[in-house]
This record gives sequence, structure tokens and C-alpha cells, in this order.
Amino acid sequence: MDRPEIGLAAEKLLDYVENDTTFMADKVMSVPTWSYVDADQWGAEMELIFKRVPLMLALTCEMPNPGDYKAMEAAGSPVLINRDKTGVVRAFLNVCSHRAAPLAADGHGNCARFTCIYHGWTYAQDGKLLAIADRAKFGDVDKHGLGLCELPCEEKNGMIFVCLTPNAPLDVDAYYGGLLKDYADVGFKDWTFMGSRVIEGANWKIAFDGYLEGYHFASLHPETIFPRTPSNVMHYEGFGPNMRIGFPQRSIVKLRDIPREEWGQHENDGFDFVRIFFPNVSIFLAPEIAQIAQLFPGPTPDKNRTVLMYARKEPIRDEEDRAAVETMMNFLRDVTYNEDYVVGLSIQKGLESGAHDDLVFGRNERGNQYFHEWLNWYLQDDPTMPRPVM
Ligand code: FES
Repeated sequence: MDRPEIGLAAEKLLDYVENDTTFMADKVMSVPTWSYVDADQWGAEMELIFKRVPLMLALTCEMPNPGDYKAMEAAGSPVLINRDKTGVVRAFLNVCSHRAAPLAADGHGNCARFTCIYHGWTYAQDGKLLAIADRAKFGDVDKHGLGLCELPCEEKNGMIFVCLTPNAPLDVDAYYGGLLKDYADVGFKDWTFMGSRVIEGANWKIAFDGYLEGYHFASLHPETIFPRTPSNVMHYEGFGPNMRIGFPQRSIVKLRDIPREEWGQHENDGFDFVRIFFPNVSIFLAPEIAQIAQLFPGPTPDKNRTVLMYARKEPIRDEEDRAAVETMMNFLRDVTYNEDYVVGLSIQKGLESGAHDDLVFGRNERGNQYFHEWLNWYLQDDPTMPRPVM
């Protein structure tokens, strides 16, 4: 498979390693510390970003079969995603039109119709209200106006994207600007879901900042990431507000022994990528196991809830293989929590202490700068303003 853009990124990474440099922004950038702790700022982020942009809420491999569903909370909204008997995926607010109880408890399941847990109204997979329990006694209502509230939803290249605002426009191809092609290239829709883990931490931006640079690998991950990946060497590419971040492995110099036209086929063999879906998803896509981190704000500005989902190219082979995968998922969760999220909790306290008015992102931390530039762009709520460029 020809992947020239991956080969180009590999060339950049090798150049950075050989010349002891990295991708550099034009200047350093300051971000006010209050923006990580202020309740109004946090509310604006929910309304102007999380409620408006496409969110990658589920993987195709989590719910591959007709009737499969996933119920979850996303940025404060209860969401129900389901695949109907023809394979079409839809998303709804997980809220009954009678008296607002959920149709399904959070988690995964499979059913031909949804029955409300409270009084037993039933809904079809397309959200239409099928039956009102004991209708003769309930009274006269128009069933057609009492379906579930549908959310814009699109499935693409192995992922399911949802906008949390009903009737909002959703154009996944335009929003991701070509980044989703990578997932088609690796056949991500046919990978197998391995499971998930949940961790909690500080303000969602404190946690997310940690996914956007490798400047901290030597200090914070000396025994886990640093042995594979040198510190402070990153290559950034922007796709609208989204990013592909390249990291060299220590073995990248072996590319010199491989024909240049083959470098594009060496992802995870000499170099790696973390792919960032603005505002809240980070994906490390390795065939032996991919970690897909979904960061959800709240319930207050000083907290986030992160769902770490895992998928693999090969299905589970046997019980021994399953046990090994469980061990690997626990290990990855523990590294993420113990090495990144614990320091995030301390950072939260530091920000709240008032010690400094601003944080500073260096020229090497271009991914963080880009993220905050896009965050500010959305918070202006003025589409005529110039968009950030990498
Ligand atoms: Fe759902 Fe009453 S709240 S049936």
C-alpha cells in the first residue's frame, strides 16, 4: 500500500533525530492559568466546542452486529448509539419521551427494540415510539411526536461520530480533512474490540495537553515510553483542528537501509503516530493493540473522566491470548494513570494556587499551541475569524 504522506513524516522524523532537532513553532505561547480552573470558561467549552463539533463516541468493532448498541455519557449528555437490522448506525439522547428515564443502562448490549426501564414504553431501533404501556388508561397522545431525540451521527472507517446537538450539521469528511484515510488504510473497521478501562483525573485540558507532546518522555516515562521513543522529537501535521503527531523510535535509523519508497509502510516499525481528534480523542494505532483515549470533561472544571478503549487487528485466539490482552490493557491503563494523570492532579492544584498567571508552551510544543489556538478559535464563536494553521 502506497502511503507517501507517512513516508514524508518518517523522513522528517529521521532528519530530526540525526540533527538533534524537532518540529518548531515560530514562537513560544502563553495560556492563562485561569482558563484551566474557571467555571465560565469550562461552561463555554462545553457549549461552544463539545456540543458543536463531531465527537468520536464509538468504534465500529464495539458494536459490529445488527441490534448492537452502546449507551454512554458524553460531556454530560446521555447518549444511545445503535445499529439497526440493516446495519445503519444512529444516535439518540438516551431519554424516554414519557418522563425522561433512560432506555438502556450505560454499557453494551443487543436488542431489537428498547424498553424504558421506568414504565415500559418501547421504541424501535430508528427511535420511533412503538408502544405505550397500558395505553387505554394513559390517554390520548400522538405517538408520532413522541419518538427519541435523534442526534447527527455518521459511521466512517471504523468509527462512529456524533454531534451532541440535534439537527446540527455534521460533515465528518470536511472536519477531519483527510486524517480518516489512515484508518481506511489499516482496515480499522475490521479490527476487534478488546475492552476498555476508565480513569479519572484533573481538568480535561491538563490531561489532554499530556497527549500532545513527547517533551516529557525522559522525565515522566523513563522506564516505559523512553526506552522505545526518544524525548522531545515530534513531527506535527494539522488536519483542520485535528493532528497527526509523529514520534521516532530509537530504531528509526534503520530506515537508511530500506528503499525510501517503502518508508510509508513502516509505521510502528521505526516510528509511531498519535492521532488527535479535536477536542478530546487521542489514538495510538498499533496493530498489536491500539489505545483510543476519550477524554470527557466534568462533572466540574477540575475533573475529567477518560475512557481508554482497546482494539486489535487480530481477533482473540484463545484463553491464554485473552489473559495476555487483559494484562496488557491493565498495564497501559496503569502507565497512563500513574505516570500522567497523577501528575495532572498535582498540576490542577498548582494552577489553583495562583502561583503563576500563565503557562508557557515552548516552540517544541507546537501540538499544544495548535490545540489551544483552535480552542480559542471555537470559543470566539465567530466563523469569519482566521483559522489556525500548522
Ligand atoms: Fe419511560 Fe415512563 S419514563 S416509560
